[in-house]
Amino acid sequence: MEKNNKLILALDVAEYDYAVELVDRFEPYIDVFKVGLELFTVAGPSIVEHIHKKGCRVFLDLKFHDIPNTVSKAGIAAARLGVFMFNVHASGGLDMMKRCRDDVVNVCLKENIDRPRIIAVTVLTSISQQVLRDEAGIQHSMKTHVRHLAGLSLKAGLDGVVASGQEAALVRSHCGRGFLIVTPGIRPSWSPADDQMRTMTPRDAIREGADFIVMGRAILNHDNPLKVIEIVSSEMNSA
Ligand code: C5P
Repeated sequence: MEKNNKLILALDVAEYDYAVELVDRFEPYIDVFKVGLELFTVAGPSIVEHIHKKGCRVFLDLKFHDIPNTVSKAGIAAARLGVFMFNVHASGGLDMMKRCRDDVVNVCLKENIDRPRIIAVTVLTSISQQVLRDEAGIQHSMKTHVRHLAGLSLKAGLDGVVASGQEAALVRSHCGRGFLIVTPGIRPSWSPADDQMRTMTPRDAIREGADFIVMGRAILNHDNPLKVIEIVSSEMNSA
């Protein structure tokens, strides 16, 4: 099996040693590993260093959402870790995203660091239309809201967004070809949806325009994770 450089494996585990075991096992097949809130809280930068030592790339999925100064400083710290990509919440606003992007670009130039891709979460894939309306108080449709937040991210100079497969085509037509679309909530036809509401199969997500798909539980909770990676990779290749 060739290395799949569009499938991001979410290392959603609670122990450094287990994460290392997963990286060592899957690095021949996976290029980008996602380090999220749980793993980064327990393991910190050492897991990022381990992934880099293996010659793989890191998507640091900490979804920064705070005042512009704080998000900008966190973004600079992420850039200095050498991650390939990190994210912020688009709902933090234009100023927050723009300030983070501009400050990261400046520091990377000054310190000769490869600039990380900065992407924005539009609406989490676990949020339904009903929750968006009743709990977040957003009265327009999911699609309209995602399109609005994607447009705002583009205006801020970000490289792309995290969006569900169901909105990928809309984001592509609104934001253009060079704009990255990273799609979680991916479920092969045999997998349970778990807490995800806006799911899609790997093939359909690629067809809808996703540049990367993110998968965690459908791979890690399976009896034969390698087999799942193989099936998903061939589905993506034929999309
Ligand atoms: O296990 P599963 O494939 O559902 O994991 C999806 C991963 O993508 C999780 O780590 C989750 O935090 C992340 N994610 C998401 N929805 C977003 C952004 C990130 O599910 N909008």
